[in-house]
Amino acid sequence: MTDDGSTKAPGATNAMWGGRFSAGPAAVMAEINASIDVDRRLWREDIAGSKAHAAMLAAVGVISVEDFRAIDAGLDAVAAEIESGRFAFSKTHEDIHLNIEARLKELIGEPASRLHAARSRNDQVATDFRLWVRRACDETAAAVRDLQQALAEREREHAATVMTGYTHLQPAQPITFGHHLLAYVEMLARDRSRFIDARARLNECPLGAAALAGTSFPIDRSRTAAALGFDRPTANSLDSVSARDFALEALAAASILASHLSRLAEEIVLWTSPHFGFVRLSDAFSTGSSIMPQKRNPDAAELCRAKVGRIAGSFISLLMVMKGLPLAYSKDMQEDKAATFQAFDDLALALAAMAGMVRDMSPDAARMRAAASAGFSTATDLADWLVRALAMPFRDAHHVAGRIVALAEKKGVRLDEMRLEDMRHVEPRIDERAFGVLGVDASVASRDSFGGTAPDNVRAAADAWLEKLQTEKPR
Ligand code: ARG
Repeated sequence: MTDDGSTKAPGATNAMWGGRFSAGPAAVMAEINASIDVDRRLWREDIAGSKAHAAMLAAVGVISVEDFRAIDAGLDAVAAEIESGRFAFSKTHEDIHLNIEARLKELIGEPASRLHAARSRNDQVATDFRLWVRRACDETAAAVRDLQQALAEREREHAATVMTGYTHLQPAQPITFGHHLLAYVEMLARDRSRFIDARARLNECPLGAAALAGTSFPIDRSRTAAALGFDRPTANSLDSVSARDFALEALAAASILASHLSRLAEEIVLWTSPHFGFVRLSDAFSTGSSIMPQKRNPDAAELCRAKVGRIAGSFISLLMVMKGLPLAYSKDMQEDKAATFQAFDDLALALAAMAGMVRDMSPDAARMRAAASAGFSTATDLADWLVRALAMPFRDAHHVAGRIVALAEKKGVRLDEMRLEDMRHVEPRIDERAFGVLGVDASVASRDSFGGTAPDNVRAAADAWLEKLQTEKPR
């Protein structure tokens, strides 16, 4: 259907490119061709690109200074209309580029028609989209930083809060809650640097590559590149209009980040389950059930867990669009934006929700400690003690500690509740010093190797992160 709901082909040929056509497109042709419903989000970038282009055309003498002034003021007027919601976007004008140019023509007349010299929509959209993805990278990096800040604050607070560390989701060794949160701060640091790297690589300006081959006008591509905050112009005109790997790279970084968020989200789901009871989310971050009055569901965490599906889906979607496309521009590439916009919308929401939950959650230190003390989680400490105190080879010590665990299990007691004579029944050389390593506090305090869970380590790491997040550049 067309804008006015009719299914008949509009009669008129396109005002921008219809010179060699005698009839307008079929309704379905117009429908599949139009991208304005999606790419209208590029209006700021499109106007910035046109302003830079017009200023450059005037500077090199392709258009007059008077025409530039008219174009520049006209583009400001268009921007004001869009900003205030007064702009009438139209599918007849296909996309954001033609919508803006058509309105500019209505507002200022003939000079508007001079703007498109030495450019094409191919380099125009490549420029607009790079600008958009660049901003998305910056905003994502800033949001990741905020989540790191939230985690580092909680980490500092809980540097000595003992909890169970798991492997295979089976109790493994005692750790601290702060140490667990610190793992995510490290993960997110790599995510943030991926966006910073992607931004640095994408920051070259395709504008002036024109349709595919460059232009015969004496343009100054360095000037437009600088005006738009790019480091330099792209070097090859074909690559300039064909490349979308800048978006793919940002989407790949987004997918990895989303997978990290899904892991933290899953842990929040587990921790808030009454069977764990490690963490409580306040009413602000819990939802109820319409049938089961007792429920407190962690819906936000579940949705953060799910977002990776949509975000990684967007990455694959664009990757498949780009696969096998011959150089240079093909209309397939118009399908790049919806997936990218959706992925970064989802990501921004997930990052904000996650930071909200991290700041909101209240850990139940007593339950965490009780869980850490159960499950024979200090069995490794006992084995290590046998190695240190009795000079046993670790494999033998592992076997002895395993037999003591089996005995404790049979007696229904924790390791630190075992009687010395029972342990001696397994290994006669064990003495009372062994009890010094069986408690969870001693266990975590002893793991003071670099990167280990000892509270002093965790405190120092939290302080270092808080300092770093405070002082380093926002992106
Ligand atoms: N709307 C188009 C896109 O997003 C702009 C480029 C169109 N170029 C063309 N030669 N039809 O890809």
